[in-house]
Amino acid sequence: KALVVAIDGPSGSGKSSVSKETARRLHASYLDTGAMYRAVTWYCVNTGVDLADAAAVEQACKDVDLQISTNPDDEFVRIGSTDITDEIREPSISASVSAVATTLGARAELVRRQQQIIADSGRRIVAEGRDITTVVAPDAEVRLLLTASEEARLRRRGLQLGGTQSDADLHEQVLARDAKDSTVVNFSEAADGVFTVDSSDLDFEQTVEAVLAVVRH
Ligand code: CDP
Repeated sequence: KALVVAIDGPSGSGKSSVSKETARRLHASYLDTGAMYRAVTWYCVNTGVDLADAAAVEQACKDVDLQISTNPDDEFVRIGSTDITDEIREPSISASVSAVATTLGARAELVRRQQQIIADSGRRIVAEGRDITTVVAPDAEVRLLLTASEEARLRRRGLQLGGTQSDADLHEQVLARDAKDSTVVNFSEAADGVFTVDSSDLDFEQTVEAVLAVVRH
């Protein structure tokens, strides 16, 4: 039976880890759309595509041989035969990814690819990002916005990065990026028919349970 679970939310809301675990428990596929924006950013940086040139970035999205795993227990991202799973998480990519995310032609191409991946999964998938509930899969069986207070988000991202970042870097990576992203996608409030789960005071397991409760609702 078709079960598309669309999850949007800001940086540090716990979206990726919670979505992945939700997919495991539902025996569903998992799609991290942010990894696709990161992969295109990596491709542009490494092939000399000017991130300020919208037409060039859009063309790069069309040209790139991008493969992403939808198995929550075997995650990978590849460009051609190059595995970039770890490299796309580096701060330099995080700092540049909004350039791709704010290029509308690039978004259109990535949305098209994401919709294809969802169809290929047999529509049994947990897909997470910023515009899944509104643009990529507005017809999903379950649509959910995962939010958290600014404080909780900064704390989580700081822990995730191993506490190596200064407060200013963290601020730049979490809040400034969300501010840039929200100029093109609105993920700060739930669209009509979208459930909100606020994870500020929930631990990981409680957040997964809350998401599963919405799925079963
Ligand atoms: O690191 P974090 O979890 O905050 O972000 P991510 O999910 O890895 O996504 C990286 C970037 O991709 C975001 O900052 C957005 O600029 C962009 N993105 C987007 O625009 N639309 C999506 N559906 C997913 C990600």
